[in-house]
Amino acid sequence: MPIDESVLFDSEKYVLQLRSLYTASGYCRYRMSKFEEYDLYMKHKDFLLSDSVLTFTDTNGRLMALKPDVTLSIIKNSEDRPDETTRLCYNESVYRVDRGSGSFGESMQCGLECFGKVGAAEAAEVILLAAGSLDLFSDDWVLAVSDLDTLAGIVRRRGLRESSLPALFKAIGERSAEGIAAACEEGGDPGAAAEFSALLGAGCSVAEAAEKLRGICGESFAGIAGILAKSRYADRIRVDFSVTADMNYYNGLIFNGFVPGIPEEVLSGGMYANLMRRLGRRSDAIGFAVYTDRLDRICDSPVTADGSLTVALPKGRLGEKVYARFAAAGFDCPPIDENSRKLISENGDGTLKFFWVKPSDVSKYVERGAADIGVCGKDILLDYSPDVYELLDLDTGKCRMAVAAPRGFTYPAGETLRVATKFPNIAKRHFASKGMDIDIIHLNGSIELAPIVGLSDVIVDIVETGTTLKENDLEVVEKICDISARLIANKSSFFFKEKAMLAALSALREASV
Ligand code: PRP
Repeated sequence: MPIDESVLFDSEKYVLQLRSLYTASGYCRYRMSKFEEYDLYMKHKDFLLSDSVLTFTDTNGRLMALKPDVTLSIIKNSEDRPDETTRLCYNESVYRVDRGSGSFGESMQCGLECFGKVGAAEAAEVILLAAGSLDLFSDDWVLAVSDLDTLAGIVRRRGLRESSLPALFKAIGERSAEGIAAACEEGGDPGAAAEFSALLGAGCSVAEAAEKLRGICGESFAGIAGILAKSRYADRIRVDFSVTADMNYYNGLIFNGFVPGIPEEVLSGGMYANLMRRLGRRSDAIGFAVYTDRLDRICDSPVTADGSLTVALPKGRLGEKVYARFAAAGFDCPPIDENSRKLISENGDGTLKFFWVKPSDVSKYVERGAADIGVCGKDILLDYSPDVYELLDLDTGKCRMAVAAPRGFTYPAGETLRVATKFPNIAKRHFASKGMDIDIIHLNGSIELAPIVGLSDVIVDIVETGTTLKENDLEVVEKICDISARLIANKSSFFFKEKAMLAALSALREASV
């Protein structure tokens, strides 16, 4: 009986199409159990998107896990044959902590793995299948491709300290010029920042890459880019060095796929020879997964591929200053009034919309694509770590994140410190770096009250003028970091509205109020 497609969810239709695409290209279907020995994930925790794994003890006493990942199991259960190419495709559930809810959830992945003998032709074949997958979902899509070897080459040549690399790669992934500068300084070569920033700014279609990136990229990448440049997807595959991954596992090409209407990547993949070596294999490997659950939302999300921009501004003093900066940059929206009951202000031709939300909510609107860009404090970015680009330090809303306590306080030795804060993750990281044991009391406001009434020993909070501390007989014990307002952008919007975003970025950089 032929399949009645009307009874299928969009994601199910796409799974069938993806399977047909992969099997028609010579990829064999691969099925596996939902369970795997936990030991495999414990040894390779950093390869997983989240290090939380659902475990249970099997009847024979072995500690088992519900699979958080597919690639590790496929490789573990396959033979190491470096002289021949193995092509497998799968459609499997994985079990991971969902960032939004903080709870475990089941999600579907449809993907492929190509391992063994993997040269430029095989790598290009996989990239083109990733492109072909995106082409099934939308007429308008972007496959952003980066090359870890190029980034690693600069790191080696510059002699940057290894300890600075996680922060450097994080900052590159966020497009944060300020973060790149800080990481390069930490790594012992501040001059390297200009080189990484230039690489980020040199994004182009793979069709242009041969010309534009000559002498910058490694030979292996240039070879693959040359094959891709001749394909029918050459204008849609973009070289973009903001795509990064852990070099302990990945090497060479890595890539993320975006379609309009979905605020995060719907596909990601890369070469993972370094993982193979860690598993004692000689084979090379490349693969990708499509996050098929996300495809059900193709029509639901407000991210569209036009040139308009929706901006989320933080309510309050900072928001007023920031709006003034947008207006000075030529991005004004005359009827705007934060106190009016109208929640969204739109300019005459509908190319610009502003809305005001609680400062701590801005990053959520941007991360989920309800706003293309927004402005929020570095405090929120450090604490919540949203998956967004951090395009610009607006150099306003300046303050400090600090530990404060009643005057004369000193850290007690050998006791758990009670810390009241709105920023639990910043506080945890800070005291963990000092090797101190703490008890976090997560509050939503009036933090200074906590040590006064005996709820906590210290607070971790923002200090701007210092007046609140002073008036309550509190003082700064130590500064954690400087804070200021940042322009952030949704990653998917950035690719589909790049021109409008870069125009806003450069106008805001120039504007002063
Ligand atoms: C912030 C912060 C401090 C105060 C510091 O509070 O939490 O309480 O500003 O500013 P100052 O150093 O200039 O005195 P906010 O105004 O956001 O209100 P909240 O107490 O409700 O968090």
